[in-house]
Amino acid sequence: MLILGIESSCDETAAAVVEDGVRTRSSVVSSQVSTHAIYGGVVPELASRMHIEAIDPVVDQALAQAGVSLDDIDGIAATQGPGLIGALLVGFSYARALAWARNLPLAGVNHLEAHICSLQLLDHRPSFPFIALVVSGGHTNIYLVKGPGAFTLMGQTRDDAAGEAFDKVAKMMGLSYPGGPAIEALAKNGDPEKIKFPRSMLKKDNFDFSFSGLKSAVARHLHEHPDMGPDMSQGRPAHVAAGFQMAVIDVLSTKLIAAAKNKNCFDIGIAGGVSANRTFVDILSKRAERYKMKVFSPPLSLCGDNAAMIAARGWEMIRDNQVCGLGDDVYSRIKS
Ligand code: KG4
Ligand code: ZN
Repeated sequence: MLILGIESSCDETAAAVVEDGVRTRSSVVSSQVSTHAIYGGVVPELASRMHIEAIDPVVDQALAQAGVSLDDIDGIAATQGPGLIGALLVGFSYARALAWARNLPLAGVNHLEAHICSLQLLDHRPSFPFIALVVSGGHTNIYLVKGPGAFTLMGQTRDDAAGEAFDKVAKMMGLSYPGGPAIEALAKNGDPEKIKFPRSMLKKDNFDFSFSGLKSAVARHLHEHPDMGPDMSQGRPAHVAAGFQMAVIDVLSTKLIAAAKNKNCFDIGIAGGVSANRTFVDILSKRAERYKMKVFSPPLSLCGDNAAMIAARGWEMIRDNQVCGLGDDVYSRIKS
């Protein structure tokens, strides 16, 4: 079964063709990041307009790279939410029109569930039940995944998402947007033990996070030490980046391992933009090993927003007959 996936929830227009929910036949991502970088963050109206321009060629490219035409497609999956409402509308309306015109089933995919399903596209996948962390610019959520489509939220951030903290700290330090890769690169030249930043909610008996206190602590440190030295690539700036990154990694790893222990799981999957952080993956993997737990993380191409993960989740939904009608609409936040 071939599913055409479409993603447009934020600043990436993406389309992909996935076979039977597990084999990526093509995955095309058109990123707007260089446009938004000028403004230091995503500008929603600009994002919507750029999705409109990109969607048609991106879908054509995904079909061509998979060596198929629309006639070969068995179902369509598009991100329905959460995300930027105008951006979501472009991809979802496109998908809805295509599904209607071609008489194909349409899955309205939850973007966060899709990030977890990016782990399905790996050669070595986590076994059910496993613990999953979706960690991106908008979310830091821990789930228990009991089976296909069976996601139970165990904890989430009370304020900033981990990726958002990376982006805000990078901005304070005058680094480029998005902040995650810039902080990770700078941290390589620093000593993570030199400046100790706070680890919020570590002692709390739950799986929630808070990153706004850490962000404020970095702001205070920068305010108290305005002279960052002659070289922004080493010395104090690098120690700040390394200390901040280690605080985030410490909290994420501790909570993930605690969640796995709590649910007696031995596999931990991480997904979303921040899972591109190799320092995080390495440290988490080493710590997990001590408890005989295994960590699964997608390749870089599947960490950030992409449509292969949308098609992977959409395949499960279409198989289970969870399909959308013409009246279904996008949603910016998860209904609680
Ligand atoms: O999943 P994603 O592409 O989009 C959202 O759904 O938010 O995640 C983007 C986030 C940004 O906050 C970015 O700074 C962060 O992922 N990120 C990283 C790294 N690469 C991207 N954070 C830490 N280290 C990285 N290497
Ligand atoms: Zn995402």
